[in-house]
Amino acid sequence: LLDQTRLPAEEVVLACQTVDELIDAIQRLVVRGAPALGAAGALGVALALREAERKNWSASELADAVKRIREARPTAVNLAWGVDRVKPFIPAGFKAVLDEANALMEEDTKANRELSRHGADWLLAKVKKTRLCILTHCNTGALATTSWGTALGIIHELAERDAIEMVYADETRPLLQGSRLTAWELEQLQIPYKIQVDGAAASTIMRGLVDAAIIGADRIARNGDTANKIGSLGVALACQEAKIPFIVAAPASTVDLSTTSGEQINIELRKESEVLSFGQSNVAPSNARAFNPAFDVTPRRFISAIVTEFGVFEPNTEVDKDLSSVLKALQTV
Ligand code: MRU
Repeated sequence: LLDQTRLPAEEVVLACQTVDELIDAIQRLVVRGAPALGAAGALGVALALREAERKNWSASELADAVKRIREARPTAVNLAWGVDRVKPFIPAGFKAVLDEANALMEEDTKANRELSRHGADWLLAKVKKTRLCILTHCNTGALATTSWGTALGIIHELAERDAIEMVYADETRPLLQGSRLTAWELEQLQIPYKIQVDGAAASTIMRGLVDAAIIGADRIARNGDTANKIGSLGVALACQEAKIPFIVAAPASTVDLSTTSGEQINIELRKESEVLSFGQSNVAPSNARAFNPAFDVTPRRFISAIVTEFGVFEPNTEVDKDLSSVLKALQTV
């Protein structure tokens, strides 16, 4: 794993030899972002098989290890999805599981490329400008996926069409995925950007400085309600008020048809220390407590478009539809 906790200062690869090391890496956000977690989950099952061979695990010890990977983080559905996708191959052995994990990763890359084209087409048709200013939140690029990216993938696609004026990247407190990771990726892609504090987002939107906001997703419920990095809901509310598009971009693997609406999504609560300190320094009184939900849920009514590899769904204009019927229809096109 490219250790995302060390970016942008240094590019360090972390090799996980055991399931416990992988779970620790997932929980510390060495690897993070929903589609990347899906890949880590699938590869994690292969890793568990190797460890089981080395340590002579019983079938139940192996099953327990696989379950622990599946549950390492609760909100991004892709993690459980990635594990579940390769689980049926366990009886066929390590190579079969690894092959399936590799197939999943190839599909994710393809999905990202496809959804990026759909998103760019939709946005350019909607906002009748040749070059756009886009706000994004958290990190949704190659680092968060198998490659290319989702929301950042659309931005990348727009940049390739010479249609990006400026990207406003929310820094994304408390772990700074925006300033550490999105900016690092935009730098490499040579796409113009500015980092802003999360608290600036609403004002940037209301002042008319951006044409649209594009975010990724950790879990999209069947009705379209979307869980994503904490702060996404505020961006959506400001876009609604400013009447600019608020777009959710994700592969169909992030759609969880078994979750009917956002209230059912389990929101990860992370350590208080992530909020109470900044880098190595404490930034609050020693007795201070913190509330640190890692995600929020944006109701479908605030979402202008949900973009997957199968096309674009506009929850507000297709009010009688949910993701189940939409995906089925789009998949058959
Ligand atoms: O806590 P993180 O960094 O894993 O949260 C990531 C996000 O919220 C991303 O926006 C989401 O997973 C989509 S990544 C393409």
